[in-house]
Amino acid sequence: MLKKIINLSKIYSWDVNNNCINQKLNQQILIKNNKIIKIGSDIVDKADDIIDGRNCIATPGFIDSHTHPIFKGNRANEFNMRLNGKSYEEIKNSGGGILSSIKNVRAATFDELYVSSIENIKPFINYGTTTLEAKSGYGLTLKDEIKSLKVIKKINNNLDIEILPTFLGAHAVPNEYSADKYVDIICNEMIPQVSEKKLAIFCDVFCEDGYFNIKQSKKILNTAKSFGLIPRIHADEFKYFGASKLAVDVDAASADHLMEINEEGIQALSSSNVIATLLPGTTFFLNKKKYANGRQLIDNNCNVAIASDFNPGTCTIRSLSNIMFLSMQNCGLTLDEAFLGVTYNAAKSLLKSDEIGLINENYKADIVLWDVHDLSEIPYWHDSSNIKISKIFKGGSLVPNINLSV
Ligand code: NIG
Ligand code: FE
Repeated sequence: MLKKIINLSKIYSWDVNNNCINQKLNQQILIKNNKIIKIGSDIVDKADDIIDGRNCIATPGFIDSHTHPIFKGNRANEFNMRLNGKSYEEIKNSGGGILSSIKNVRAATFDELYVSSIENIKPFINYGTTTLEAKSGYGLTLKDEIKSLKVIKKINNNLDIEILPTFLGAHAVPNEYSADKYVDIICNEMIPQVSEKKLAIFCDVFCEDGYFNIKQSKKILNTAKSFGLIPRIHADEFKYFGASKLAVDVDAASADHLMEINEEGIQALSSSNVIATLLPGTTFFLNKKKYANGRQLIDNNCNVAIASDFNPGTCTIRSLSNIMFLSMQNCGLTLDEAFLGVTYNAAKSLLKSDEIGLINENYKADIVLWDVHDLSEIPYWHDSSNIKISKIFKGGSLVPNINLSV
């Protein structure tokens, strides 16, 4: 089955060889099954299906490399508490925070958690996200973490978005255990089961004061590696204590947040393959003033991705156009760097950069057509009712049932 998209005013994709954005004018794309097989201004091959791009621009489908969408209910009350002067840390210490989402996930049946989580995930599609990393982490028992990961698997089978699962048993220490005891449970019971059932690709740790320290995080991530899971880390969000260095030591795919990273951490990341992932939606949502310094990271040769961190406590933004906007206004990224952060570098952080993140021959046909004239209009029109998406292709198939602008 050959499909041809014609009348594209521009294709934007990262030029990996020259390390800059590439714009091709007046283009057509030929798709065979789920892959791009030709790009050119006049493709002569006869196609079974011709799609009029109506002068839209084309970008790769966006990739959100850090989300926590497997939860039920919301934590809007904490938003009010923050407005009344309580910090995220204080809310956690008074029984709110991650642990309050745990109650709902534990109480939910598989079907209840599936229904609420699929509703959490559907809107990502409307924003042009075609690949999503999704973490467990609101169960914190073997049973509830497995339930969460099985929910991810079922949603992945039922929605037009690819979801890559991450086991985040080390999201917080549940009240019933000491941190060390819980780390033993993660290492001796949870990781082996998750790996045996093939329910996750990655293993993440919230490596932060009051959650998991360096020693505990290292133990968890090294155990995960020995079971074939790839490490990722929530690093240097509230305080620097070396989590980004640990990311390098354990050869993590990404170190995420990085608001408090210092010179030592930056040097460690810059001489590694770890993708430095900025989550400016969280800083915005928590109304903190200090954003991660993306400019400094990029100027020191770190590879930077940006992601939503969508979760019930610290960020309800799902639009990567919005995240591009925030990263440009607050983290010092240029438009091109923000685009790289939601395409090729995000793909790298998910170890998928030979398959997705570019509009190139032999890449998956994950393509978004935007009814705009220039890339800058994507962050500019970032709000949901303005979003200028005309069509989305996921693996070559037109994604149905989204709000189309034309
Ligand atoms: O990335 N930092 C840890 N995890 C989430 C917050 C989760 C929550 O508060 O429910 C984050 O911001
Ligand atoms: Fe997170």
